[in-house]
Amino acid sequence: MNSEQQNQVPKSTGVFTDTEANRTQKSGAEARHAAAAQTEPVGSVMTPEEVVALRKAHFFPCTQHFYKNPPVLVSGSMQHVTDGEGKAYTDFFAGVSVVATGHCNPAIAEATVRQARKLQHTTTIYLTEPSAKLAKRMSELLPAYPRVFFCNSGSEANEGALVLARRHTKRRGFISLTESLHGRTSLTTSVTGLQMWRTDPFPDDHVYFIPRPYAYGVDPQEAAKRSLSALEDVLREAGDNIAAMIVEPIQGNGGMIVMPEGYLARAKKMLESYGVLLIADEIQTGFGRTGQLLASQQLGVQADIVTMAKALGGGIPIGAFAATEEVAASLNVPSASTFGGNPISAETALAVLDYIESENLPERAARLGSALKLGLERMRVFYPHIVSEVRGLGLMLGAELYAEDPTYGAMMTDRVLEEMKDRGFLIGKNGVSRNVLAFQPPIVIEASDIELMLEALDAVLGAIEQERLTVTEKEQGGESEASASNRQP
Ligand SMILES: Cc1ncc(COP(=O)(O)O)c(C=O)c1O
Repeated sequence: MNSEQQNQVPKSTGVFTDTEANRTQKSGAEARHAAAAQTEPVGSVMTPEEVVALRKAHFFPCTQHFYKNPPVLVSGSMQHVTDGEGKAYTDFFAGVSVVATGHCNPAIAEATVRQARKLQHTTTIYLTEPSAKLAKRMSELLPAYPRVFFCNSGSEANEGALVLARRHTKRRGFISLTESLHGRTSLTTSVTGLQMWRTDPFPDDHVYFIPRPYAYGVDPQEAAKRSLSALEDVLREAGDNIAAMIVEPIQGNGGMIVMPEGYLARAKKMLESYGVLLIADEIQTGFGRTGQLLASQQLGVQADIVTMAKALGGGIPIGAFAATEEVAASLNVPSASTFGGNPISAETALAVLDYIESENLPERAARLGSALKLGLERMRVFYPHIVSEVRGLGLMLGAELYAEDPTYGAMMTDRVLEEMKDRGFLIGKNGVSRNVLAFQPPIVIEASDIELMLEALDAVLGAIEQERLTVTEKEQGGESEASASNRQP
C-alpha cells in the first residue's frame, strides 16, 4: 500500500471496527474456530497420500483436487469442516455453493435420518408424501413456476429444461453465453461456453454462442449492449429454429459475472418476440445465496423455465426444473427419474426450505455479503497489483487476481488458496483462466468468520505484495548499480 492509499483508505474495514463489542465477537469467533477442531471426532484413518493414491489408481484421469497438500476432510459442522488430523477450517466454498444451510445442520440432518429410517425409496410410480409436499412448497415459494420435475443433479435439471424447451417450441436450437457452464451431459456440455468443461468431442451443433455481457475494463452497460446486439443478430438469422436461451444470472464458473442491470429483462423481451424461451440456470445461484430466493428475480426477470439443484438438498443430491403452466404442459409424455425427488432427498429439501425461511437466509446473505464485499474491495484498494476486480452479489463473490496476466494469476490463485487453507480457510476458485478467488460460504456463516478470513487474506496478500516490492527494489537497486558501474571508467 502506498502512502496515498494509506491516507485514502482506513485499514479497518469499517464493518469490523475495533469496538469492544467486536473484540468480544472476535475472540468468540477464534474460540469457536478452535473449538470446532475439538468437538468432532477424528474419523479418518487414511493419510492424504493414501487417498490421493487410491484416487489416482481408480478414478478416471479427469478427476482433480485442490491443493498441493490437500487435507482429508472427515467431518463438518455448519460453517466448519475438520480434517483427519483434527484441524478445523472455516469453509468459504460450501462444496461449490451446495451447503448453504451449513454442514450437518442438525435441523436438516435430523429430517434426513428420520426419513432414512422410515422409507428410503420407492420411485414416483408409487405414492409417497415428501415429493408431493416439496412440489407444493416450491410452487408456493416460487409462484411464477407452479410445476416442477425432480431429478438428481444440476446437469440433469438443465438437460430436462432444454428438452422441455424443444418439446414446447418444436424447435431444435439454443442460444447460450460464452464462458457459461451448464453441466456434464452431452446436451448441457454443448450449451456450455467454457472451453475447459466442453468434454463431449461431438457437441450438438445447433447452439449459437453470443458474447457474455462482460469484458474486463469495459463498462457493463456497453458490454450488455454488445451482447444484446449479438442476440438480435442470431434471432434475426435463426430465431425460427431456436427453442431457448439458457443463462446463469451470475456466471459462477465463468468468474462470478453478474448479468448487468436490465440485461436479462431486455433479452427476455427480444426472445419473446421470436417465440424463444428463457431458461434461468439457478443451479449455483438458487435459494437465497444472492439475497433473494432466485437471482433472476433479483435481476428483474421471470424466465419460462428455472433450473435448481445444489443448495436445494443441502448436500443430499436433488435437482429440479420448474416452469410456467403453459410450458410445463408440453412435457406430457411419460418421463420419470428413478431417484428424482426420492423420500430422503425430498424430505431433506423440505427441511432445507424450512430452515432458509425460518432463519431468513436471503436477508443474511445480502447483509453478510455486503460486509464481505466491502472487505474484498478494500483488499483491491490495498493490493491493486494483485486484486484486479471484485464481483458478485450476496454471498456469491469473486476476486480476480492479475486480470492482465491471467496465467500468472492462476498460479498465484493456487498459492493464495494453499496458504489460506494452511491458515484454516477453504476458499474456492473459478474463472476462464482459473484466476478468480471464489467466496460462497454456507450462509450460516458469522460476521466474525468473515472478519477472521479477511485478516488471513490480508496477511497472505500482504506477503505477496512485500515480495513484489522487494523484487522491484532489487531491480531498481540493480539498475542503479549497473548504471553506476557504466559510469565507471
Ligand atoms: C450454473 C451451473 N449449472 C449446472 C451445473 C451442473 O451441476 P451438477 O454438477 O450438479 O451436474 C453447475 C455445476 O457446477 C453449475 O454451476
